Amino acid sequence: MSTTLITGGTVVSATGRAAADVLIDGERIVAVLEPGSRLLGTDLAASVDTVVDATGKYVIPGGIDAHTHMELPFGGTSASDTFETGTRAAAHGGTTTIIDFAVQRYGERVQDGLATWHEKAAGSCAIDYGFHQIVGGVDEDSLTAMRSLVDEGVTSFKLFMAYPGVFYADDAQVLRAMQVARDTGLLTMMHAENGPAIDVLAEQLVASGRSGPYYHGIARAWQLEEEATHRAIMLADVTGAPLYVVHVSAKQAVAQLAAARDAGKNVFGETCPQYLYLSLEEQLGAGGPESFEGAKWVCSTPLRSRAEGHQDSMWQALRTNDLQMVSTDHCPFCFKDQKELGRGDFRAIPNGIGGIEHRMDLMYQGVVTGEITLERWVELTSTTPARMFGLAGRKGVIAPGADADVVVYDPNGHTSIGVGKTHHMNMDYSAWEGFEIDGHVDTVISRGRVVVDDGAYLGSPGHGRFLKRDLTQYLV
Ligand code: URP
Ligand code: ZN
Ligand code: ZN
Repeated sequence: MSTTLITGGTVVSATGRAAADVLIDGERIVAVLEPGSRLLGTDLAASVDTVVDATGKYVIPGGIDAHTHMELPFGGTSASDTFETGTRAAAHGGTTTIIDFAVQRYGERVQDGLATWHEKAAGSCAIDYGFHQIVGGVDEDSLTAMRSLVDEGVTSFKLFMAYPGVFYADDAQVLRAMQVARDTGLLTMMHAENGPAIDVLAEQLVASGRSGPYYHGIARAWQLEEEATHRAIMLADVTGAPLYVVHVSAKQAVAQLAAARDAGKNVFGETCPQYLYLSLEEQLGAGGPESFEGAKWVCSTPLRSRAEGHQDSMWQALRTNDLQMVSTDHCPFCFKDQKELGRGDFRAIPNGIGGIEHRMDLMYQGVVTGEITLERWVELTSTTPARMFGLAGRKGVIAPGADADVVVYDPNGHTSIGVGKTHHMNMDYSAWEGFEIDGHVDTVISRGRVVVDDGAYLGSPGHGRFLKRDLTQYLV
């Protein structure tokens, strides 16, 4: 077992910050010490195998990205990152745990979908990983199979009120699945958009000649996110199951979540960096409504209008805890041959944005600009994801007994995002090209092993282990 001492840094948690040294023994953190402490010997640095000098830097728990889609078959193609490439990119960006979505579709067995995801990930991951289960076909068989998920360490599942004919569940199916969630403790994750209504609007737009990526954002109107969010909250309420709404982008959907939370309901929501920084006008509409450039940013829920103020509302909701987490919804597709499938018809553009590598940096920039505090940065990107998804104590904190997943982050460093600069995702473009960050991921430690040091990758596929997760630890 090797030992590591991280010295001279400021340890930041969700609740505060303090100058402290962090001692790692093997895969675990064993002590958080006052600088200069003689508790474990007069010269601790001389007695450990590795010393990481964090002077002037922040020492934070490794990021947890609770919403990723490696190799997702979707939109007539598959997400372009494998577990190997995607988790390596994650490590570069200071993320040391992902929770990816295993897929079950109509006619498939849930157990088979989960087994397939285990096969894809096993031996490939640079960092630790867990799974949520997509239940894309709710029927008697899948409802029964869902009852065994908790024993598998898969304690959350996703339903879709969108994508008719693909993953869509109607209200009756949602209700029945939520009843299983209530009985088992599974956390229901909801893609809350009114898919049937969206499909009608999309068809009408294309029929009238409005077929560019910009109209993806018009068809997926905020009203249809608000309405579905409200419906999901009510369906969860009537069953008594907790609810977690994924990739929230509309300020009106946040208002629904906030009202439910104010009423004491176990209702939670995440947003993603794209909904904080990017917009309908600037990205989806890049080059004009009929330009195909905007295909790079086609995702669902869609990027929202800046003029309508959704982005500001997302930041505010992160401050007020009306939204509790930031995940990426990392679902990368190359522009060539993948996004291009939708030239002439935005409905055929594979939905998804890649960003797993940049979440910690992009959220840190929110600290720099005063949108969130340093502590809230750690809470949104690591501590709450751990609690929300049953990893509390193991992940998301720098404390004795926790896994030694640690990032040394330099607030005086700088990161230029873009292809040829910082881009390790398997994509031929960056959705974040040109973004400048006033900070830098210096050292990334995954279960005691340095996997990234000053931009150099020192990890290996297979280091990452499957995490059997407990039930959510975030309920009120
Ligand atoms: O556009 C997106 N979000 N693609 C991934 C699938 C999903 O709905 O999360
Ligand atoms: Zn979704
Ligand atoms: Zn997703």
